[in-house]
Amino acid sequence: MPKTLVVYYSLEGSSKLVAEAIAGATGAEMLRLEPIKDIDASKSTKYLWGGKDVLMRKKPELKAFDKNPEDYDVLFIGGPVWAWSFCPALRTFLTLHKPAGKKVAAFLSCGGDPKKAMDRLREQLEGNEILGDATFIEPVHKETEKQVEKAKAWAKEMLAK
Ligand SMILES: Cc1cc2nc3c(=O)[nH]c(=O)nc-3n(C[C@H](O)[C@H](O)[C@H](O)COP(=O)(O)O)c2cc1C
Repeated sequence: MPKTLVVYYSLEGSSKLVAEAIAGATGAEMLRLEPIKDIDASKSTKYLWGGKDVLMRKKPELKAFDKNPEDYDVLFIGGPVWAWSFCPALRTFLTLHKPAGKKVAAFLSCGGDPKKAMDRLREQLEGNEILGDATFIEPVHKETEKQVEKAKAWAKEMLAK
């Protein structure tokens, strides 16, 4: 079995649900990206602050983590779509720990419009073998079981490549 890590950020639980499904289906380890100062998910201003951070290409400082992505053969990397892009915590990760020469698979959760964000995320993953990508529409709120099953099947398909 290749050594596999799921790297993800989640503000409101959808990407976390997908990340857990991937790890459950593949036996992967998990690395949750946590900004030291995150936006408040309970406030409607989250769209304003989150969107601004994306537009300004902010790279929030992350809490220290005890896993080294270098040690893994396959990386699943994902998080929410914010303002038609991938979220700032992933930008930090992809700047400080940019994977190279790995097998990678990308996933995004979104409100319904993942195309541009996925193109941007895939761009950041150049230099790796991109196994594939998958998108999920707010799985904590919508068709949860169906989307969890989709995540599991997709993760197994990626690892079989
Ligand atoms: C700041 C912010 C910006 C967002 N921008 C978009 C967007 O441009 N397109 C979209 O489809 N969904 C957008 N969403 C919705 C999230 O992508 C969606 O709710 C996602 O499932 C959240 O993932 P999470 O629960 O892992 O945080 C945005 C949400 C936030 C908080």
